[in-house]
Amino acid sequence: MSATEQISIRVEPTSTSRLSQVDFNNLKFGHIMSDHMLVAEYNNGKWEDVSIVPYGELSISPSMSALHYGQSIFEGIKAYKFDDGTVSIFRPENNWERFNKSAARLQMPEVPEDIFLGGMKQLLDIDRDWVPSKEGTSLYIRPFMFATESALGVHPSISYKFIVITCPVGAYYSKPISLKVETHYTRAAEGGVGFSKNAGNYALSLYPTQLANDEGYDQIMWTDALEHKYIEEAGTANLIFRIGDTIITPHGDTILHGVTRRTIMQLAEEWGYKAEQRKVSVKELIDGIEAGQVAEAFAAGTAATITHIDRIGFEGKDYTLPPVEGREFSNKVLDYLNQLRYGKIEDPFGWNF
Ligand code: COI
Repeated sequence: MSATEQISIRVEPTSTSRLSQVDFNNLKFGHIMSDHMLVAEYNNGKWEDVSIVPYGELSISPSMSALHYGQSIFEGIKAYKFDDGTVSIFRPENNWERFNKSAARLQMPEVPEDIFLGGMKQLLDIDRDWVPSKEGTSLYIRPFMFATESALGVHPSISYKFIVITCPVGAYYSKPISLKVETHYTRAAEGGVGFSKNAGNYALSLYPTQLANDEGYDQIMWTDALEHKYIEEAGTANLIFRIGDTIITPHGDTILHGVTRRTIMQLAEEWGYKAEQRKVSVKELIDGIEAGQVAEAFAAGTAATITHIDRIGFEGKDYTLPPVEGREFSNKVLDYLNQLRYGKIEDPFGWNF
């Protein structure tokens, strides 16, 4: 993709970099933020005051509407470092599009390309030394926007902040995960906000996830709100299965349309698998596991990358998936994406920005 137009951004560099304090061999997900952040303000119908400033605390009003009514959205993107020092962001234009879809659904203003992508590019130029280079590591980029109006009436805020922070990360999940099929609590319903990446979608998952954790599962496999019959997503990532030679992922407006999911489905088609985005019932999955037809199951997301699923719990019974080593499709995707993202092979799709 070509570089985006450069906007005028005020830059206030930090006088005290924290870079030397970071142990790049021991990166936990999302704990250490890099030196700078991009901040833009929306007032009177337009974006203004775009600046890159030292990462630090914000001053907010206790009556700020995002705190009360949840007008708050975000994205997750990763940047990788090639051997020659080039820093590449993976498909960020997809996240920009999705961010603005989330914004529209929550009655928030769109963020223009020159601020979202142009600002991110400039931020990464300044903090390029924060991008780790070891395989399995990356710089996680978190753009987010929230309503800043001080007012307790329920209405769209008249002011917003758009911020991009970044952090060097390792794996989100360090081992295969187990999922409990959720048949009581609901993540999203038709006509709701399931497709958007808004803060509330994550808050609502915490209590049922804790219940699943208490039963010994790592995460939830969400099902549809009407009948709890169809599989949706894992909450922190999308779900993909290989049944025979078909790669299948649940589809619909109640799930988040992940960039990693889209990438994997594109690769599946490219490599000659049948690739289907459709409803997948819990019965199809469980019957398939019992019949030995479900060869692979994994979670796919920016943070999660590809995380194998080793066990699925449904109605009090556990179903075990085949060993991870034999999973030809997901292991091939993981290997291919690692090579592409770290610049070790050609990028035929133009996914590296
Ligand atoms: C991501 O994959 O980037 C996400 O936003 C998931 C997250 C909640 C960690």
